Amino acid sequence: MYRGTFSIIDLRALSHNLQVLKRRLAPDTRLLIAVKANAYGHGLEPVMNVVMQGPVAQVAVATLEEALAIRKAGYDIPILLFGALGPLELTIAARHQVEVSYIPTWDDYSILPQFYPPLKVHIPLDTGMNRIGFKSIESTKAFLDWVRSRSDVIWSGVYTHLACADASSDEHAQAQIRQFRAWLRELEQDGYQVPLAHAANSAGAWRDPAWHFDMVRVGISAYGYSPDDDVLAMPELRPVMHVYSSISRIETVNSGETISYGATYRADRRMRVATVQMGYADGYPRVLSNQGTMLVRGQKALVVGRVCMDQLMLDVSHIEDVQVGDFVTVFGADTPAALTPQAWGQTAAEQRERWLVDIFSQQQIGTQQLLPLNHLATLAGTISYELLCQISARVPKLYVQ
Ligand SMILES: Cc1ncc(COP(=O)(O)O)c(C=O)c1O
Repeated sequence: MYRGTFSIIDLRALSHNLQVLKRRLAPDTRLLIAVKANAYGHGLEPVMNVVMQGPVAQVAVATLEEALAIRKAGYDIPILLFGALGPLELTIAARHQVEVSYIPTWDDYSILPQFYPPLKVHIPLDTGMNRIGFKSIESTKAFLDWVRSRSDVIWSGVYTHLACADASSDEHAQAQIRQFRAWLRELEQDGYQVPLAHAANSAGAWRDPAWHFDMVRVGISAYGYSPDDDVLAMPELRPVMHVYSSISRIETVNSGETISYGATYRADRRMRVATVQMGYADGYPRVLSNQGTMLVRGQKALVVGRVCMDQLMLDVSHIEDVQVGDFVTVFGADTPAALTPQAWGQTAAEQRERWLVDIFSQQQIGTQQLLPLNHLATLAGTISYELLCQISARVPKLYVQ
């Protein structure tokens, strides 16, 4: 490691969150964890290693490639695939025992090839998201009749997805749940024995136990975040990802001078400005130009001027003793006291990852000041999910066990 920009993925927090989530469920309710998109940007394999030891019954991915990566790495756990698949892809899914949920051309299901081993299917019901699934009970039943006619296709579940489970009003979600229940009832009445029903994402799982059904499908809360802190506070959860960078220059900027591309920031006083080794190519949103904040020596510092590809500037005028090499918190827990420029400089480049992991391992999780990702996401006009997924591969991930 040469550049002092990195992320800490605290797997202790992940395992803590899984336990918190499991405790909220009835004992026989299954916990599914979404590990799509490289485990929401946290790295698939290290997350899977924790998932395999925790109270998790099943994982979910979006693409066949993601499912096969899990199988290739040797994890033996049920996988549910949310994304669309054609006939060739379904054959591969069956071969690797990946449960599918969505065949784009439902009308053509009668021509699907033979599957071996049998293909497991969770049937999506569209109760109001208008993204995937059957929109009527009649088409669902027609599909189920076809499934029954095939010994190589197994009906493994039925589900819906809530569009507004994190909204301040639960009206939309309640309407979806009512519709889901009505369809489940109708299926049962007509002799279709529903094997497994599921509806709730993180917000739904947190919001109402009546929405849990047989399984909950949780993503963002496993990684430590509420989908919306204002609507659903989840204080027991701990953020898994923490991102840090470091200061490469500190200079005086005089009143009237401008900072960064486009000269969008003009100093109205004499300032101390720090350059930080993080930019939009690392995943720091450019839209946070003149808006974002980072923690420097435990204090908030504002991003001044435009975020560049590899660097950005902070106003550190109010922060005493700040020096070149200081580490800054991009989001997550404040930097540990042992993380000093001097110690960094004295540690050989090839030892730094080990050294950093040791420092962060000694931190008691959940005790430090936090720069909340959700706050940054709101400023950037987005959600924590997007920011987590877009921290780029250029930022090394260091795993604390
Ligand atoms: C179908 C489905 N279920 C569950 C989830 C998990 O959602 P969350 O991360 O909000 O818990 C997702 C994520 O997008 C999803 O697409």
